[in-house]
Amino acid sequence: MSPSPASFQQAGRPPAFSYREVRKGLVRRNLQSVLSCDSVPLSQLAERYGTPLYVYSATTIRERLRTFDRAFRKAPHTVCYSVKANSNLGILRLLNRVGCGFDVVSGGELERVLTVDRGAGRRVVFSGVGKTAEEMRLALRDGILLFNVESESELWQLGECAARLKKKPPIALRVNPHVSAETHPYIATGLHQHKFGIPVEQARKLYAGASANRHLAVSGVSVHIGSQITGPEPFAEAIERVAELVRQLRSDGHRIEYVDAGGGLGISYENSDAPRFRDQVVNYAEAIIRPLRGLKVHVLLEPGRAIVGPAGTLITSVLYVKDNDGKRFVVTDAAMNDLLRPSLYGAYHEIVPVKRNANSANTKVDIVGPICETGDFFARDRQLPEVQEGDLLAVLDAGAYGMALSSNYNSRPRAAEVLVQGRSAQLIRRRESFQDLVRPELF
Ligand code: LLP
Repeated sequence: MSPSPASFQQAGRPPAFSYREVRKGLVRRNLQSVLSCDSVPLSQLAERYGTPLYVYSATTIRERLRTFDRAFRKAPHTVCYSVKANSNLGILRLLNRVGCGFDVVSGGELERVLTVDRGAGRRVVFSGVGKTAEEMRLALRDGILLFNVESESELWQLGECAARLKKKPPIALRVNPHVSAETHPYIATGLHQHKFGIPVEQARKLYAGASANRHLAVSGVSVHIGSQITGPEPFAEAIERVAELVRQLRSDGHRIEYVDAGGGLGISYENSDAPRFRDQVVNYAEAIIRPLRGLKVHVLLEPGRAIVGPAGTLITSVLYVKDNDGKRFVVTDAAMNDLLRPSLYGAYHEIVPVKRNANSANTKVDIVGPICETGDFFARDRQLPEVQEGDLLAVLDAGAYGMALSSNYNSRPRAAEVLVQGRSAQLIRRRESFQDLVRPELF
């Protein structure tokens, strides 16, 4: 059964989102339980900025990054936050301020990082199966930490671009370790049938070719087996294969300084992961560090979801409640264009009322958006406390791949985004207007 708001309450959210007693009206004793981000009631933010609205907790993002750093403290390492999870400049700036590195997969993501800090290139790894020559030139100009190369053709293309610019970029080959990870098939990447990486068996030959090219500096090995992987075993298995390859490559005479372990650590969407997150990251660190023991490599990590997922929520207003032949639909002003995960992956997101009323009973409902597709839903047959039109709902754990996957489908302007820090809230993306939607169009 899906967890109800009661289990949500018991699990206890991280300080990011928890219910707080807020005074209702002028009477002091008249208190109401309102979901808040740090100490800011989400109802206040909805009133000020409208809905749909993404709200993020700066404190939680920083804490989760720190959890990674602590778990890996025994190994020289750099956390390169995976920009694709949430690329808002306000969030990149927050992470940059605490010295975080970045994993980018496009010229656009690199430009975002450089917009926040011109000098951040030396903390950037560039992954992706289809980098264009233009994107390579941009990264070469700024001198990034590591190119993760995913095919032989890409290797020669990079060599050519580097020769033209008289550069010698550090490269790793992204190997495909043929490790199966239990996750949604769309986000598993570590098997040979997936488009990613180079089979481990072919890597040695390609490394030999790369080091013969005087415009490429062989520097590391990289791997990424998929996303939303909750147990440590697949990571350990992949890194064991990588460690073996590092030994072989060194015996072939290559200088391997970095092992990029990729991202992929999952979160618990069904319950708050706050109490267990530390242990989970410690186990993950162990799975990665143990196989690398004695190799004296610098470990690169590319977490995205685990840093920002639970730090964000999508606030939406209930537009209508309707009953169709005994089935109840709660129609919200947010839709699949704002948060695609339930429609695309059948993903579960916990949904709770922003204002909690102790006396309201649960009813079974579908929570759906206004888009003209049956696939436009956030939850199906979900137990939800009785809601009225005009009420606010919070879709939890929406900080990663929420806004990043949003679109303008149905000509819907994208939501606004707010970053909360303690008592203050900062608008980090204003709501789009109709003019924003049509600006690039020519007629
Ligand atoms: N590094 C590489 C090379 C990746 O491809 C990815 C994610 C990451 C790091 C970060 O993975 P994370 O730590 O966030 O799991 N839209 C999907 C997730 C797609 C992940 C794609 N690659 C979702 O909403 O679940």
